[in-house]
Amino acid sequence: MFESLPPREEDSILRLMKLFADDPRVGKIDLGVGVYHDAQGRTPIFAAVKEAESLLVRTQESKGYTGLTGAPEFHAAMAGLVLGTTEQPIAACATPGGTGAVRQALELIKLAAGPARRVWLPNPSWINHASIIDTLGIPRATYRYFDAATGGIDRAGLRADLAEARPGDVVLLHGCCHNPTGADLTPQDWADLTALLAERQLTPLIDLAYQGFGNGLEADAAGLRAMVAALPEALVTVSGSKNFGLYRERVGCVLAPCKNTAHLATTQAALAWLNRQAYAFPPDHGARVVTTILTTPELRASWEAELDGMRLRIAANRTALAGELRRLTGSDRFAALQDQKGMFSCLGLSTDQVTKLREDHGVYMVEDSRINLAGLTDATIPVAAEAIAAEL
Ligand code: LMR
Repeated sequence: MFESLPPREEDSILRLMKLFADDPRVGKIDLGVGVYHDAQGRTPIFAAVKEAESLLVRTQESKGYTGLTGAPEFHAAMAGLVLGTTEQPIAACATPGGTGAVRQALELIKLAAGPARRVWLPNPSWINHASIIDTLGIPRATYRYFDAATGGIDRAGLRADLAEARPGDVVLLHGCCHNPTGADLTPQDWADLTALLAERQLTPLIDLAYQGFGNGLEADAAGLRAMVAALPEALVTVSGSKNFGLYRERVGCVLAPCKNTAHLATTQAALAWLNRQAYAFPPDHGARVVTTILTTPELRASWEAELDGMRLRIAANRTALAGELRRLTGSDRFAALQDQKGMFSCLGLSTDQVTKLREDHGVYMVEDSRINLAGLTDATIPVAAEAIAAEL
């Protein structure tokens, strides 16, 4: 049997992680996978996470199963964090990580839709979005999103492409900190898109993996909150990997604001059934850590302060790298780095240039020239900038 398995290649992000790990050079610089690094190059455990974990160790009395969609307290805490105060009925489901949330949301779309409903992806998008959609056999379409010339949004292209969407289609949006470009929708863009989706009867699937890394926890959710409140239904997929630093604990969640309580019951039951088919009960430890932090005022304050420090460090790295590249190239080609948000930006380099940066300079970035700004430190910014400038 196994001989008939089709060969599978890892995607470019995973390939790069391996290449980096295998590179023996001391000065190598990791701007690849989307993991936060501090000024010392470490991926720290939040103090609030440590506290919440030790609290759980001391007080938790059972590891018995939770519900099929996870613990209701986790749903409530995540809904509050992402959607704020709302009267909308919200179906919710804990998942293994943000990727699990994307997968289960797409499974739900497939279940609800039969073969005709398309999912529209921005160009570009996180590489695993297209891969999961294709694996599920859901029809996929692409809308223009990134304007490489300005480093911002291609608004005319986006509108023209989504004008082709059929009622019932789903439009995937990045809640904030667009992966891979860092080019975010403005509040006005969210409002315009909300009107467009309402007019064309399209459902948003909003992937939120970096809340708190762009303009702050509340500001990063403001656009999606306004959209969700204005539309009859939506799907929001949330990751706790980055903003709680719980990468390996796999914390994720699907939030599905529904039209009414009848839809709520059906959607909740469908999410439970989908979890049952895939892994039965979702992981609980990380979800419980997140719930403890969000519902304990001192832990929440500590977590918010630490997260804010990360956001400011990334923003400072953006300014420093843009400045260094301006100095070295004598041009504003990389000026948009300063305006983009979150961990990522695309430098607009060719695959050859990306390969040379890796092989000749030990500077690792994804093959579409996506860099993780959190991978830079004061010491490596000038080194990375010199390498980039040398390969232009
Ligand atoms: C990334 O984009 O690098 C992260 O979301 C990690 C991943 O799973 O791809």
